[in-house]
Amino acid sequence: MKKYLIFGNEGQLGKEFSHLLTNAEIEHYGYDLPAVDLFNYAQIDSVIKRHEPDIIINCAAFNNVDLAEFEYEAAYRTNVLGVDNLVRLCEKNDIKLVHFSTDYVFNGIKRFPGLYDEDDIPDPVNNYGRTKLEGEKLIQENLENFLIFRLSWLYGKGEQNFIHKLLTWAKDTKILKIANDELSVPTSTRLVAEISLKAINNNLTGLFHLTNTGYASRFDWAKEVFEIMEIKQIIYPAKVLDFALPAKRPNFSAMSNKKIAEKLQIEIPFWKDELARFLKAQFIDDNLPQEHKYKRLKNEIGFHEL
Ligand SMILES: NC(=O)c1ccc[n+]([C@@H]2O[C@H](COP(=O)([O-])OP(=O)(O)OC[C@H]3O[C@@H](n4cnc5c(N)ncnc54)[C@H](OP(=O)(O)O)[C@@H]3O)[C@@H](O)[C@H]2O)c1
Repeated sequence: MKKYLIFGNEGQLGKEFSHLLTNAEIEHYGYDLPAVDLFNYAQIDSVIKRHEPDIIINCAAFNNVDLAEFEYEAAYRTNVLGVDNLVRLCEKNDIKLVHFSTDYVFNGIKRFPGLYDEDDIPDPVNNYGRTKLEGEKLIQENLENFLIFRLSWLYGKGEQNFIHKLLTWAKDTKILKIANDELSVPTSTRLVAEISLKAINNNLTGLFHLTNTGYASRFDWAKEVFEIMEIKQIIYPAKVLDFALPAKRPNFSAMSNKKIAEKLQIEIPFWKDELARFLKAQFIDDNLPQEHKYKRLKNEIGFHEL
């Protein structure tokens, strides 16, 4: 059986991979900061020597889109130089590299309207997107045995995602303002980890867009979260520019998952169905009577309905 090494295993996607591999009783090892820094060639080399993996899953990234505008060098160190270290060591040790990139490699103004596919030309509009694109190129130019999955609006267990932020804002704010002019695809870590492992098992290589199906604005996404959870929360449609964020975002960066779905002959769930499944598993206990349904959520983040 193949042996896996995960970098960034404490992040939301890394945790999902560890969970799936543990459940499947597949041998795997995980590292994160501060034990192993992707920028440190010797540290990566040492854990590769220790575990001799067949596959490296790289979930580590400098992921803070706004901070990357002020800390370009730090983003570059992880997203480009760190990936360069992985590329060199994967080539040297004949290891398959599975890496994740982003819809933010696109500028959001697609020449022919539609979802972005793998043949569309990237043109990032912020530092995060620029560094992630350079990381992709290093892999494509130097390795043959690789998988790159471009993801968007990732959510899973944990706090580093829009759903957690939304529920936390809702706790303190009666009326939320959420952008309705930023569109992409909410995508669960469960989906990404399951399909990535399927692609590995099918010996796929290359670049794929991997998202749930359909697309939404942040406003649609927020509304759906509250609807599924039967929480009465007022949300106002706003514009991205209202928030004066440091990093520019593409307005429409939704990607098509057609290529990976066809290669694996699978149907990828619609984003709303995936979201309902996630929220129910996380927060809603169907065995409880209706009035206690959100007990876990209320206990966890102290949410108050209007
Ligand atoms: N989150 C999204 O919405 C989204 C969207 C599109 C694509 N992606 C891509 O999906 C992948 C996984 O994202 P995620 O949401 O799971 O990220 P995450 O939760 O932020 O996890 C990333 C992990 O990498 C670690 N890390 C950062 N710099 C490192 C370094 N130099 N060396 C080793 N580890 C380092 C982080 O540690 P610290 O927490 O200590 O920094 C963190 O544990 C990334 O490639 C990301 O670019 C994410």
